[in-house]
Amino acid sequence: MADSDRFSPSAPARAEPYRLKGSAGLDWGMQNRLARVFRPATGRTVMLAIDHGYFQGPTTGLERVDLSIVPLLGHADALMTTRGMVRSTIPPASGVPVVLRASGGPSILNEMSNEQIAVSMEDAARINASAVAVQVFIGGEFETQTVHNMTRLVDESQRYGIPVLAVTAVGKELTRDARYLRLATRICAELGAHVVKTYYCAEDFDTVTAACPVPVVMAGGKKLPELDALTMAYRAVEDGAAGVDMGRNIFQSDDPVAMIRAIGAVVHESAKPQAAYDQFIRR
Ligand code: R5P
Repeated sequence: MADSDRFSPSAPARAEPYRLKGSAGLDWGMQNRLARVFRPATGRTVMLAIDHGYFQGPTTGLERVDLSIVPLLGHADALMTTRGMVRSTIPPASGVPVVLRASGGPSILNEMSNEQIAVSMEDAARINASAVAVQVFIGGEFETQTVHNMTRLVDESQRYGIPVLAVTAVGKELTRDARYLRLATRICAELGAHVVKTYYCAEDFDTVTAACPVPVVMAGGKKLPELDALTMAYRAVEDGAAGVDMGRNIFQSDDPVAMIRAIGAVVHESAKPQAAYDQFIRR
């Protein structure tokens, strides 16, 4: 082959940017990890949340993660879980990207917002985490403490190239409307979170995603009938969410495999909720 062919001096260098919202200025390792969680083809994720045990013990459906969750791993884009569950139960060869719960402290028996950082970034790197997750209680009793937990993790995340997912935790006394969710998500993004997890609201959720300069993933919440959960996920992604981070609506379903597949059809293929539900009940 001629030198001119091998060097191709007239061909511009190819560069394939990763187009996830807000990630253009991030370092390569950070973008690479985000690309494990958010499929480059769709820019969306189906994250399976099973971290509930860190504050509420063996919740329904998570009594035996080895039996109930491991069979779902092939259908999840990422798994949100704790380092205890990773090391004890998640098969290292499963290949599922881990979003590691990195805050904790109080149980359901105490003030939930009184959390501290519960994992070092060094250990997150040792686990090969694709991101770390931290709870932020805007309007909660320990609001400032939880914001500082997040900002300390963000500082560490810049050193290690491991993104931070901020979870906007809403206490019972707060209303989950667009005004509150805009406030909470925007504060997290402004202070450095690379991804924000928040609840869906029926009115003006598109303003929540629009005002947040980084990807928003929809939290699942308590178990709903499958069609309702699929409808909520559909509306969230239509309104600009970059996917979902759902737990109980998947693992408490009568058929968790069918449900996570149906959620995947909604998130990645924009399947209509009824069509995805029909797929769910056909299995
Ligand atoms: C929420 O604050 C925690 O991260 C939960 O443990 C979990 O992510 C909730 O998932 P879901 O509400 O979909 O069961």
